[in-house]
Amino acid sequence: MSAVQDLLDRLPGTELPEAALGSRAWFPDLQARVYLNHAAVSPPSSLVRAAIAAMLDDYATRGVGAVMDAVAQRERLRAQLAGLVGAHPADIGLLPNTTHGVLAIAHGLDWKRGDRVLCFEGEFPTNVVPWQRAAETYGLELVFESLDDFGSDMARTLERVEAQLRIGLRLVAVSAVQFRDGLAMPLAELVALCHNHGAELFVDAIQAVGIVPLDLRGWGIDYLSCGSHKWLMGTEGCGFLAVHPDRVAALRPRLAGWLSVEDPLDFLFAGVESMHYRKPVRQRADFVEVGAPNALGFAALEAGLAPLLDLGPEAILAHVQAIHDALEGPLVERGLRSLRAGEAAARSGILAFWPPEDIDLPRLLAALAEEGVSASIPDGRLRLSPHWCNSLDQVPAVLEAMDRALARQRR
Ligand SMILES: Cc1ncc(COP(=O)(O)O)c(C=O)c1O
Repeated sequence: MSAVQDLLDRLPGTELPEAALGSRAWFPDLQARVYLNHAAVSPPSSLVRAAIAAMLDDYATRGVGAVMDAVAQRERLRAQLAGLVGAHPADIGLLPNTTHGVLAIAHGLDWKRGDRVLCFEGEFPTNVVPWQRAAETYGLELVFESLDDFGSDMARTLERVEAQLRIGLRLVAVSAVQFRDGLAMPLAELVALCHNHGAELFVDAIQAVGIVPLDLRGWGIDYLSCGSHKWLMGTEGCGFLAVHPDRVAALRPRLAGWLSVEDPLDFLFAGVESMHYRKPVRQRADFVEVGAPNALGFAALEAGLAPLLDLGPEAILAHVQAIHDALEGPLVERGLRSLRAGEAAARSGILAFWPPEDIDLPRLLAALAEEGVSASIPDGRLRLSPHWCNSLDQVPAVLEAMDRALARQRR
């Protein structure tokens, strides 16, 4: 059954053209002529807008009566998210963003003073700041390795990680895909290395889920956290944590809340004195669901990922790679230096470049925006991130915009 059709059946009156690779028909109000910024924030599709509107209408009509349908919606979503990352629904906890998943684990492990945690220089701060705070709180030692030669000499970098593991690491924290240059990390190798040395792997997967394959149970990833507003095409304010079943029993749910306990709602429906504070916290990933959730955001997330499920992340990645192929050579001819990984397995949805030396990047970005091309410049790289709704037909417009944007500075 098509995930989109299943949703449309629940949204009476919503009519949409078929979601097809390369079609932007679901984004009728998008201003940019070419939107290459899905690694930053995806614009909500017509289906996402319809799903939010329908849930909002339901709350407006029925008030608390809408809650149980929203709970059922999140259970459907939990199963879909689990499927996307090679997990089971019971491995998933729904969250407000990626950071909350990092926090849950950074404050959820049974740390010993002096435990060492490895982070990577160049990671998005989501996967660093919570570990710094945990280091201060629990007396951990934070160590950093550079990401610099991961793209060019993966074997050497893995050796450096192994050298750190030999000294002794409790946990390695890494992004599945690097936000600055799109490098897809060798997670299966990293997790095997970690486990050989008794360490665990934490993965920030927001730049991967929906476009780059991940297999939490198959590869043995210990913890994975993700937000919804990039490749999953939901809105901001939602995300999820996945915990490997072998790790869940050892978690210390220090950040538990009223909805983290077994049968948390019972007292709302039973008689007087049915409320007490002795209920055990659920020993499952969903203990992170601590209080009232972002119901509208999770409705949006289900609608954002429905076309991904129908089109298939593998087909989407191949489609996006074809766009990268068409952009990379001509942009290099124009003086940009490509940061794209040589190996196909290390590629992702992000195509990034160093700007030409004579070009001021913020000014280039502004000029591209004026020419109708939406891109980003994280940490000094020009980042282009097309998704299923971009097409090869847009490539000439991007190149023309680049020519005009470069000419403005070289004039
Ligand atoms: C690699 C990476 N991690 C995390 C985030 C964001 O984290 P959060 O969902 O907590 O805002 C981003 C971008 O915003 C990112 O690129």
